[in-house]
Amino acid sequence: MIDVQAIRKDFPFFEANPDLVYFDNGATTLKPQCVIDAVTSFYTRHTSNVHRGDYAIAAENDRLYDGARSSFAKLLNCSPKEIVFTHNATASMNQIAYGLSHGFLKRGDVILTTEAEHASNLLPWFRLKEDYGIEVRYLPMDAQANLDLKAAEACFTPEVKAVAAALVTNVLGSILPVKELAAMAHKHGALFIADGAQAVPHMKIDVQDLDIDFLAFSAHKMCGPDGVGILYGKYDLLERMEPVFMGGDMNARFQKSCTYELKHAPTKFEAGTPNIEGVIGAAAACDYLMQIGLDEIHAYEKELRAYFLEKLSALENIVIYNPDNEYGPLAFNDKEVFSQDAAGYLAAKNIAVRSGNHCAKILHEIIGTDSTIRASLYFYNTREEVDRCVQACSEISLENAVGIFF
Ligand SMILES: Cc1ncc(COP(=O)(O)O)c(C=O)c1O
Repeated sequence: MIDVQAIRKDFPFFEANPDLVYFDNGATTLKPQCVIDAVTSFYTRHTSNVHRGDYAIAAENDRLYDGARSSFAKLLNCSPKEIVFTHNATASMNQIAYGLSHGFLKRGDVILTTEAEHASNLLPWFRLKEDYGIEVRYLPMDAQANLDLKAAEACFTPEVKAVAAALVTNVLGSILPVKELAAMAHKHGALFIADGAQAVPHMKIDVQDLDIDFLAFSAHKMCGPDGVGILYGKYDLLERMEPVFMGGDMNARFQKSCTYELKHAPTKFEAGTPNIEGVIGAAAACDYLMQIGLDEIHAYEKELRAYFLEKLSALENIVIYNPDNEYGPLAFNDKEVFSQDAAGYLAAKNIAVRSGNHCAKILHEIIGTDSTIRASLYFYNTREEVDRCVQACSEISLENAVGIFF
């Protein structure tokens, strides 16, 4: 059971902003004191580079930095050597796409994805189409971005070499039937690549049980610092995969003749000085979430969202785009007011939401509008905050919304 009032005490943000309702957790999340302390301690007490220094503080940072892999390995049920640190989910996804285009895929091969994806799980594949003649096709989805599994099977032609899809979509919160889809992909000889940016922070993701080949997500969406992404890959696939970046630390040796040898995964993917304090802070966030319990977080958010949906559905002026989904953000609009103007009114009432297309710029193919208000919750949000948001939504009108946005 989540004790939300006790949890809120872990987040200095609430003391600094006592009147703000923060419902933009899909964009980024607040940071608990333990994460702030982990990052601050690196700057104030034990600054050094990693994998380079022959002194005690440097050794301590090696231990903390590489030890962070164990926290994420525990979270995902994998080996620490299958955890690569990148700069965000986007960088992880780009690494996967680049890696596949060098040695895994050939002209005419097909990537299956969906129209509900975030830009970071589409544009890397679009570039492969341009550069290498890799085709991108879309799996069939309903109007709330739920996959039609039966119809999906027909999409698997012999050219399909990978499926890349979000475990939870970032606007409509639809949950992928991941185990079934991964099994279907494998049956047809394709890899299964998961965008976990909106899933890993909110629910237990066991990469072995789900049989995920690659998984990408960001620390900042799970109470961790900015500038840290996580790339999980099955070890044999990581070993086969080419890194995007070349440089220091990731090489074993190189010669004047332009020959070189790389280290093994995961180090070969981490060229140059990494975001050391970010990774240490990310591990603190990961440990913090595991201590609360991912199942507890999931259950609490589901219940809070159901309460929010019930209240919001009662408003005559609001149209909701994902009423049948049980999880994730609520995507809605006032029937008359443009989403950004409506979000401006909510901002004036001290309620932080996001409006627009949320980087899912072909989702309008599914929902018929390219601009919505997105209210995204996390385990530190409360029913009282939901009540305030719903009250403010009930007041949105052409008269009071337009022109307030700043
Ligand atoms: C589903 C999904 N994938 C990927 C990303 C990209 O994450 P980042 O900006 O941290 O790279 C986001 C960010 O909102 C997202 O919601």
